[in-house]
Amino acid sequence: MGPPAGPGLLLLLLGSLRISAAKYVRGNLSTKEDWVFLTRFCFLSDYGRLEFRFKYPEAKCCENILLYFDDPSQWPAVYKKGSKDCFMKESVIRPENNQVINLTTQYVWSGCQEIKEGETSYLSCNSGRSFRSVRERWWYIALSKCGGDGLQLEYEMTLTNGKSFWTRHFSADEFG
Ligand SMILES: *[C@@H]1O[C@H](CO)[C@@H](O)[C@H](O)[C@H]1NC(C)=O
Ligand SMILES: *[C@@H]1O[C@H](CO)[C@@H](O)[C@H](O)[C@H]1NC(C)=O
Repeated sequence: MGPPAGPGLLLLLLGSLRISAAKYVRGNLSTKEDWVFLTRFCFLSDYGRLEFRFKYPEAKCCENILLYFDDPSQWPAVYKKGSKDCFMKESVIRPENNQVINLTTQYVWSGCQEIKEGETSYLSCNSGRSFRSVRERWWYIALSKCGGDGLQLEYEMTLTNGKSFWTRHFSADEFG
């Protein structure tokens, strides 16, 4: 994106764009699979943000959020259905790059807490993650528990670009 345009030019530009608010997704999944794709988002180069709320039964612990990007060694290497198992799909992820959010109370950045509702204990995880990159990048968010007995998750995610009003409200893929 160039320097800020005057209001007239901005309105003209917006007229030709598909406009949407920051991407918001929510759902409640329950599956026998041990790896599932949740959503994707195109982060612009300067600053992107993921805010999340996750909740799942502690009996299903421990599930991981996996953050893949669009490099050939990353998402393109795993997305084809059936070609790779969960462990292979996790193996391209680099935890040292903060590409894993372990949904446990031990991993402090997940913001997970144990809560009780009636007789059932849940892990309730409430936090966020920032994204910086030298160029626009697609990020793909998946959930896994390799070799487990399936996945269960209530989720809410808000994905935004940049800190300013104008960049916050678009995913880069909405431009052009
Ligand atoms: C999500 O699904 C689980 C199991 O299918 C169910 O127990 C739970 O109440 C659901 N949560 C919401 C918010 O619908
Ligand atoms: C987080 O999850 C990944 C993927 O399963 C695993 O390799 C890693 O050891 C976990 N880290 C912690 C701190 O539990």
